[in-house]
Amino acid sequence: MSHAPPRIVIRNTRPDDFPSIIELSRQVYPFGPPYNAIQLASQQRIFPEGQFVAIDASSQHVAGMAATLIVRWDDYDMQTNWRDFTDNGMFTNHDPVRGRTLYSAELMVSPARQRQGIGSRIYEARLALVKRLGLLRVRAGGRLRNYHRYADRMSAEEYVIKVIRGELHDPTLSYQLKCGYHVLAVVPNYLPKDTESLGWVAIIEWINGEVAKPDDYAGRDARFDAPDELRQQG
Ligand SMILES: CC(C)(COP(=O)(O)OP(=O)(O)OC[C@H]1O[C@@H](n2cnc3c(N)ncnc32)[C@H](O)[C@@H]1OP(=O)(O)O)[C@@H](O)C(=O)NCCC(=O)NCCS
Repeated sequence: MSHAPPRIVIRNTRPDDFPSIIELSRQVYPFGPPYNAIQLASQQRIFPEGQFVAIDASSQHVAGMAATLIVRWDDYDMQTNWRDFTDNGMFTNHDPVRGRTLYSAELMVSPARQRQGIGSRIYEARLALVKRLGLLRVRAGGRLRNYHRYADRMSAEEYVIKVIRGELHDPTLSYQLKCGYHVLAVVPNYLPKDTESLGWVAIIEWINGEVAKPDDYAGRDARFDAPDELRQQG
């Protein structure tokens, strides 16, 4: 049976989207508290052009969303958790004057609408923003969503290396690698309540080749390089 692809419109988030986003976060992250309207209003007020929703054109439902802010990376380190990178979802640390890194605080698609290309459409809109603002890169903590199935057999780092080599599939990290992200580090306690990743994330980056200098690629850990045949443009 073939399904017609949904007609999806990507636009910036508006206050009337908040109830749908809150419900979406409840469905996607049943193990933690959902977003609340105070956080979403703060994100939208502080950096409106960095907040995106994917709208199903026929039903007008919110099928996905992304939330981003600009950070000055030197103010943080690889071990920083989601709460500190986002000021607990309030984005008051947004620093468009000194920052060159678009931090992806959230990207989620309704469970019923995943694997239909919606995440990729939001991802494209985000990259267009990075290019328009002349930012150096996108960084994010990519949840190791299937790690709970392997945690009794291997470390999170071994798991990530197997996903990079294509020996294991992770619904979040495999997708991000396919989108051209590179793993910088594997970090615990990023989302302590996440029962799927057990709190572990891969810190990932995508570099804007239009503005990057060779030094911006330096310091990458070769253990996290993709095999040549799987390597993406970044
Ligand atoms: C990660 C996430 C945002 C991806 O969104 P999505 O809309 O499913 O993404 P896409 O549909 O663009 O791509 C997902 C996969 O579907 C495939 N796909 C896309 N369109 C497809 C289609 N029409 N038919 C079949 N497969 C398709 C993609 O190639 C990709 O494959 P991969 O998993 O092998 O890499 C989504 O899975 C999600 O919300 N996860 C839970 C929240 C989360 O973990 N977010 C990330 C926080 S770090």
